[in-house]
Amino acid sequence: MNIQEIIAKKRDGKELNQEDINYFVTKYTDGTITDYQAAALVMAIYINGMNKEEITNLTLEMAKSGDILDLSQISKNVIDKHSTGGVGDKITLILTPIIASLGIPVAKMSGRGLGFTGGTVDKLESIPGYKTDIQISDFIDNVKKIGISLIGQTANLAPADKKIYALRDTINCVGSMPLIASSIMSKKIAAGANKIVLDVTVGSGAFMKNKQDAIKLSNMMKEIGKLADRETVCVLTNMDEPVGYAVGNTLEIIETIECLNGNIPKDIEEIITTIGSYIIKLSGKSDDLEENKKMILQNIENGKAYNKFLELVQNQGGDIEYIKNVEKFEKAKHIMPVIAKKEGYIQELNAEKIGMISVMLGAGRMKKEDNIDKAVGIILNKKISNKVKKGDILAYVHANDEQKGKEAVEEIKNIYKISEMEVEKEEIILGII
Ligand code: URA
Repeated sequence: MNIQEIIAKKRDGKELNQEDINYFVTKYTDGTITDYQAAALVMAIYINGMNKEEITNLTLEMAKSGDILDLSQISKNVIDKHSTGGVGDKITLILTPIIASLGIPVAKMSGRGLGFTGGTVDKLESIPGYKTDIQISDFIDNVKKIGISLIGQTANLAPADKKIYALRDTINCVGSMPLIASSIMSKKIAAGANKIVLDVTVGSGAFMKNKQDAIKLSNMMKEIGKLADRETVCVLTNMDEPVGYAVGNTLEIIETIECLNGNIPKDIEEIITTIGSYIIKLSGKSDDLEENKKMILQNIENGKAYNKFLELVQNQGGDIEYIKNVEKFEKAKHIMPVIAKKEGYIQELNAEKIGMISVMLGAGRMKKEDNIDKAVGIILNKKISNKVKKGDILAYVHANDEQKGKEAVEEIKNIYKISEMEVEKEEIILGII
């Protein structure tokens, strides 16, 4: 067997068998197959797709490429939550301390930003001192001790996915359903939870641009979950505009703290209560979804969720003085308003374009080795359906480079589409699968 034959098979629209996929995954992970050969195969998969059997084989081979954790010592049911990616998506940061404050253990590995989407690990690292790269034994001990640990994907967790994922980003092959399904599920299987709740984002700021594709992706991931004996629930959420108001690493940490202090934007509240209610259900704590939503809001109101977040940050080496007083976070040098050119109602606020501007300001990476600028980003002041008058502030750009800040202001002005007619709010939860 050789990689040229495997590339030719997929290039010609044929099916790859288990040996082909095993050969590709093991030989690419150990460096025998080059990046350009892997890029050719990934592009052929992107163009010609994969059937169910191929997707399952790719998922299992990528999961097996590194350690498979056993978290059964933590609890009978360990739940993992993962988002397919978005802009301003700080749901994991807000929801996981709430879940832990309800006595449900949270052992979660998160990723870094990819393309125009942000990553939980980059956001956590905006908290001075917070360590995301701790040993697996410490990760498990932390969960046993305080009920929660949030870290980055360890080097040997699905290393094949790590390599293929980074390659896909450089050759514009992220948005492929079989590749997304196998990437997410390989990590979830390797990370050891037996119950999985997936936030499948839909819209301009998501990889799935429409609901039909999101349903197809959800069904694919559920089926893989079933084969691997991992109960999986998918919640489809709207990503046509960014989630909440903040986009950028430190800015999103500050919004997370505000939410945990009870100041929650409506879209975030709907997403955390819906996803959270399924997490509580899968944990075996309560089947009543409406009751579960109330429990979530209650633990925000009574301060237990905020206290759990403080405990998490402290336990991972972070400086909690920043959480208690967000003024301590370093701010960008230039904070520039974006002013409305006319009166009307916000009709469109393309999340992908906002995400790309945030990357251009330095909040994300153009290349995987780039450093990110934690302070920069965008604070939205108006969202879809809001009424605006000429001269109102639509958003604030937080920039360290004045020229880039000015460019961002001009671009954001055009991203806000303003209509004379009233605009209805979009639905936030688009389905449960
Ligand atoms: N998130 C992942 O983990 N993998 C993808 O391919 C896309 C989003």
